[in-house]
Amino acid sequence: MSNRGNFSGRLGFILAAAGSAVGLGNIWRFPYLAGQNGGAAFLFIYMVFIFLLCFPVMVGEIAIGRKVGSDAYGSYRTLGGKRWGFLGIFGILAGIFILSFYNVVAGWAFGYFLEISFGDLLNHQDFGAFFGSYVNDVSDNLWFSLGFMVITAVIVSQGVQKGIEAANKIMMPSLYVILICLIVYSLTLPNAMAGVKFYLIPDLSEIKAQTIFDALRQAFFSLSLGMGALITYGSYVKKDQKIVSSAAIISAADTMVAFLSGLMIFPLVFSAGQSPTEGPPLVFMILPQIFHDMGPILGRIVGGSFFLLLCFAALTSTVSLLEVPAAFLVDQKKFPRKPVVWALALLVFILGLPSMVSQGMAGFEFLNKLPFYQGRDFLTFVSDMCDISLTVGGCLMCIFITYRWKIENMNTELKIGDDTYMGSLTQRYISFAIQYIGPILLSILSVLVIIDKFFGIEKVF
Ligand code: PHE
Repeated sequence: MSNRGNFSGRLGFILAAAGSAVGLGNIWRFPYLAGQNGGAAFLFIYMVFIFLLCFPVMVGEIAIGRKVGSDAYGSYRTLGGKRWGFLGIFGILAGIFILSFYNVVAGWAFGYFLEISFGDLLNHQDFGAFFGSYVNDVSDNLWFSLGFMVITAVIVSQGVQKGIEAANKIMMPSLYVILICLIVYSLTLPNAMAGVKFYLIPDLSEIKAQTIFDALRQAFFSLSLGMGALITYGSYVKKDQKIVSSAAIISAADTMVAFLSGLMIFPLVFSAGQSPTEGPPLVFMILPQIFHDMGPILGRIVGGSFFLLLCFAALTSTVSLLEVPAAFLVDQKKFPRKPVVWALALLVFILGLPSMVSQGMAGFEFLNKLPFYQGRDFLTFVSDMCDISLTVGGCLMCIFITYRWKIENMNTELKIGDDTYMGSLTQRYISFAIQYIGPILLSILSVLVIIDKFFGIEKVF
């Protein structure tokens, strides 16, 4: 196994895993979901899920990966036998589909970065209409998303230390710096405090079934759980490192970026007198308007920085998404890394094309209004199905640890490199969460989310 590569040390692993976690999910999706679900009320439920459920699931995934030192399929198969290997395959497929639509959105962000910084995007007047035509302009989008996939593949093909770890060591700190600068700027705007209040003072009457579902799927997506990304990254962690405290730092870093993104976006939105409930287009329609109003030079700087931030965040996640199937083919089939990575990148890019043209492009209207999916578009369909597969994957992982691998074996793995772990409160809590909270809560909620997505929960109950 020694030729698989390793993270050089604890910092390398933490940055790479935090890089996987921090992504479009934090900066693009978290603020719009929070905006649609009452702001602070959503933030509150989200935090509860992260702490109560997601942190233990993350620990479990990393433990599985490090124990076996193999890809997601190989890890489940080694510990659980052939039948459990399917869970690894399920995760690998989920990763491929997440990357297919994720790369499309990353391509939009990449295009916005280039066209705000070096083009004339901010000269437009109506950014809602502009975004609508932009996502349908496949001649541009095709190149931006292809470009993004190529950059991802270049990094992944370099391997764990020289590619993934090195890229994260530059991008993650830069991301924090850009984010902090943007927050400082947005808090100084007039009426910024209205945004801060919306975001931080919870109105618990805003909590509805939808708030809970959205918070759960967002928490899983944001921490990259349930599909084997952390099993794969965990397999590159050396035995002398503490898993539990690393997982705590990764979860905290991810939650921090989501929290800070809200703190950056809501003051901007409120100070411009806009509505936070805009949904997916929030950062693509509302923010450019605000950058436009800043004037040509400041707008270019602040707007360009924002979209660069989004690209960095997305790239550290696309890298981890591509690594999951790549590790599978390298470990199981013994294929050489470079050609595997390029072939997978091409495959995923092609799989993303229906999502790309599903935003209303002429000739593809049928993908924009799926009759079997409450009239939603194909990109939303793929993204929702992936979300569901993450919570189902997380649930099955908890069942796997409890009934097949056994909780004692997980604890034995977690104890390595961590003398104080056994008998600690953390150990008891993690064991409890994986055996009881995970299987029960995740199975109930996954079923409810499936009903909600296909039929609308209010109509059913
Ligand atoms: N966590 C990433 C984000 O928030 C998305 C992701 C999901 C990455 C699953 C890897 C695996 O954007």
